[in-house]
Amino acid sequence: MANGGRRVKRNIALIPAAGVGERFGAGKPKQYVEIHGKTVLQHTLDIFAAHPQITLAAVVLAPDDHTFQSAETAGFQTAPAKTVLLHCGGASRAETVRNGVNTLLERGLAAPGDNILVHDAARCCLPQAALSRLIDQAGSHPNGGILAVPVADTLKRSGSDGLIETTVPRSGLWQAQTPQLFPAALLQRALAAPDLGAVTDEASAVEMLGVRPLLVQGDSRNLKLTLPQDEYIVRLLLAEK
Ligand code: CTP
Ligand code: MG
Repeated sequence: MANGGRRVKRNIALIPAAGVGERFGAGKPKQYVEIHGKTVLQHTLDIFAAHPQITLAAVVLAPDDHTFQSAETAGFQTAPAKTVLLHCGGASRAETVRNGVNTLLERGLAAPGDNILVHDAARCCLPQAALSRLIDQAGSHPNGGILAVPVADTLKRSGSDGLIETTVPRSGLWQAQTPQLFPAALLQRALAAPDLGAVTDEASAVEMLGVRPLLVQGDSRNLKLTLPQDEYIVRLLLAEK
């Protein structure tokens, strides 16, 4: 596709789903927990399948995970061409994403100038409007951008004795969510760092390059299924959809 002589920038979702869900403790990875007749991963994939500006959703699974046999079982019955399963998950989330980005580029599924939107499989309530907002506001930004919400609660720093040491001013503080959107080449370069130990989201890896991504207003409903008590709210949110 040409656009004034240049290729159109595509938006490709990359969904790390190679975690074991230890904190959720379901006896299986939380992405395979069923809510209202569909797995958490299917709910997440359906969000991207339904979005007109997403051209492909790549799910990164653990190498030995064959729970999803084909695109048809992944909730993509209406748009099976839009999903691909990559069995290259790593030991940490950052490694899973690094392997996924490298595979997308190696296989020509993504071009260096395409946007990659990394999104936690466990964030299955992402509203379409928040996804649109990220693409609209950060999709053409060279530094990329992330969904985030301003911190609402008062923040306390604790001492080692369990008593409050100080109150941290919350002005200017945001809670990072996903998706986190970056040009593929920038994301690949950021994740090529030898030590990804301190990298808890893609933005932090990009920040280590001295690049400052854009903050885009997220949504408090875009929560991550992390602890058993999160399931109650996720069920309510998914029922409303
Ligand atoms: N993830 C991944 N590869 C890993 C670790 C995590 O792809 N080695 C994915 C998870 O599957 C999840 C997302 O990253 O979709 C966010 O991670 P988290 O909520 O921490 O999930 P888990 O690592 O599975 O949970 P826990 O930390 O409780 O074990
Ligand atoms: Mg984890």
